[in-house]
Amino acid sequence: MLRYDPESDRSEWRAYDVPLRAPGTVLGLLHHIKEEIDPTLVFRRSCEQGVCGSDAMSIDGRNRLACRTLVDDPSRTISVAPLPGLPVVRDLIVDMRPFYDNYKSVAPYLIGAGPAPEGRERLQSPEEKARFDNSTGCILCAACTTTCPVFRRRDTYAGPAALVAAHRFIFDSRDAGDDVRYPLVAHLDGAFGCRTAFSCTDACPRGVEVTRAIAEVKRWAVRHGSGREEDRRL
Ligand code: SF4
Ligand code: FES
Repeated sequence: MLRYDPESDRSEWRAYDVPLRAPGTVLGLLHHIKEEIDPTLVFRRSCEQGVCGSDAMSIDGRNRLACRTLVDDPSRTISVAPLPGLPVVRDLIVDMRPFYDNYKSVAPYLIGAGPAPEGRERLQSPEEKARFDNSTGCILCAACTTTCPVFRRRDTYAGPAALVAAHRFIFDSRDAGDDVRYPLVAHLDGAFGCRTAFSCTDACPRGVEVTRAIAEVKRWAVRHGSGREEDRRL
């Protein structure tokens, strides 16, 4: 495991021998290390069910959720390190602020055309919901963004997770924020920065079709910028 001590500003790999009595998860091994071997180890986790996204880390060189990574071979050596591409605070904890700043940069909220109809919610058909449903699976774990080769070179690039959030609202039939969101995504630090490496889609633990979502945002931006409003959500 790659441990980082902020007091000495030193990182070092340390090996731990952890018993595995039944198929378990990497998160279970981390708990064992903290409870039985070294209480100074720190890592984030919350739901332990693959829902909160707080325990994303690099496991055997791939970004994954520790609670969703099964271990069934007790003799196996597993490498664990913090997510790449973000500043490390301590051990497996990274500073998520640059990630959240990029997320906020795409206006990731519904911009309604006006007040909601009196006495009821803004309605939407199942077909309209299906248009962006896959993107709602995002849990903001940052596995995609921190594996993206463009983001790793240039952190001003919004990154895959932010663009998935943009997709979720651009293709929502209730959203009227095109003119707000267009200047936020239609540039090289937005959707046009994507080089279609597919590493984001491979990393996503939630099955979000990240690369496809970004491609759709690109296509929408080209159409919106050219004034072809009738094609807005095709
Ligand atoms: S798209 Fe997937 S990998 Fe990226 S932040 Fe959302 S859940 Fe995590
Ligand atoms: S602890 Fe919540 S996703 Fe793993």
